[in-house]
Amino acid sequence: MDSKRFQGITTCLLFLVVVTNAQTSIFDVKTFGAKGDGRTDDSQAIGKAWNKACTSPKPSRVLISKGTYIVGSFVFQGPCMASPISVDVQGTLQAPVNPNQLLTKNSWIAFQNLNNLRVFGGGVFDGQGALAWSQNSCAKLKRCSGSLAMNIGITGVTNSVINNITSLNSKLFHMNVLGCNNVTLKKIKIIAPEQSLNTDGIHVGRSTNVNIIDTNIKTGDDCLSFGDGSQQITVERVTCGPGHGISIGSLGKYPNEQPVKGITVKNCTLTNTQNGVRVKTWPASPIGVASDMNFDDIVMKNVGNPILIDQHYCPYNQCKDKIPSRIKISNVMFKNIRGTSTTQTAVKIACSAGVPCQNVAISNVNLKFNGVGGPAVSECSNVKPTIFGNVYPRVCARRASL
Ligand SMILES: *[C@@H]1O[C@H](CO)[C@@H](O)[C@H](O)[C@H]1NC(C)=O
Ligand SMILES: *[C@@H]1O[C@H](CO)[C@@H](O)[C@H](O)[C@H]1NC(C)=O
Ligand SMILES: *[C@@H]1O[C@H](CO)[C@@H](O)[C@H](O)[C@H]1NC(C)=O
Repeated sequence: MDSKRFQGITTCLLFLVVVTNAQTSIFDVKTFGAKGDGRTDDSQAIGKAWNKACTSPKPSRVLISKGTYIVGSFVFQGPCMASPISVDVQGTLQAPVNPNQLLTKNSWIAFQNLNNLRVFGGGVFDGQGALAWSQNSCAKLKRCSGSLAMNIGITGVTNSVINNITSLNSKLFHMNVLGCNNVTLKKIKIIAPEQSLNTDGIHVGRSTNVNIIDTNIKTGDDCLSFGDGSQQITVERVTCGPGHGISIGSLGKYPNEQPVKGITVKNCTLTNTQNGVRVKTWPASPIGVASDMNFDDIVMKNVGNPILIDQHYCPYNQCKDKIPSRIKISNVMFKNIRGTSTTQTAVKIACSAGVPCQNVAISNVNLKFNGVGGPAVSECSNVKPTIFGNVYPRVCARRASL
């Protein structure tokens, strides 16, 4: 082949590569000096790659390939120039063992003020939480904030998808979704031991249009929890356990909480969890609202308190339980919920004497108590639930008039 023709072909090939790359520029943290050897702190190298990607005028991707990357703490800070902006985590990011090294951080890894973010790759965010759990004094101090870092903070993120990553052994909550809109979390794995303290799986607060789908959570505290201002949330095909179950709340601990509205939890399985699906609010609370909550097609395997509304939530006796909660709960549907309960009271709807629950419906429930002492029972207060179809245990209720 003559050299001119060869040159032509190479130019053509080069052109092809450039065209492909014109779609997305890739910034491999290893070309910025990351070692991924499990010994070197790679935070700075990841920072350099992120800055290049985020300030690039083209859609960009940071690549964290296989390997173990020690990361002191890091913020994927936006806004970025172009979108989508992606982080392809194939390797393992590892947090410092000593919680004191993250004392001033809300979260070990954060994604902040980003639009059209994509996180994927099958990688692991390893919080190395064992030492933190052994020193955890949240119960003693009656609060945790400021003392331990969450694994992954997602704040001010919009129109984004976080797909196929693992959060392992976080020191505190695994993931905290705050001030976000239109964020989908899917194929997430969350893993921490049953005994690990305050390792909630995914907490959502002050966010709208959040979807949590095809996700598997084994942890030491709530599997999912939805704080104030959670609106238009969909949870689908999530498995939980061990852990404390799926929780709306706790609500009403602080002043100026925003309403919780529009939460759908469907096609989920809970196994060996302390609770099933629950709504919890503090007594003596400010005025607040939690409405339009649907729990549908849920399998309970060996679960304590499978169906629970608790408006007397007061852990560590930190409240005046004599004063009723003022969080108004309305439009709640428990439908197609079946399986086994480890507590004899399989259904408990304990509403506030101050603002009774309104429009609570229970449809096709079959929960069996798997301990000794008789069949499953239900308890209700300050609520008149409407019953549809077959409901077992029989709930303290009137039948729907047909
Ligand atoms: C997660 O990503 C890895 C790496 O790209 C891939 O091999 C794996 O199939 C993905 N898993 C899922 C459940 O999508
Ligand atoms: C929500 O985000 C997804 C992912 O970026 C996007 O495809 C979709 O258009 C967004 N939806 C709205 C209503 O903006
Ligand atoms: C969702 O429903 C399908 C069909 O009933 C079932 O096979 C699957 O196990 C369910 N998934 C979960 C997480 O419950």
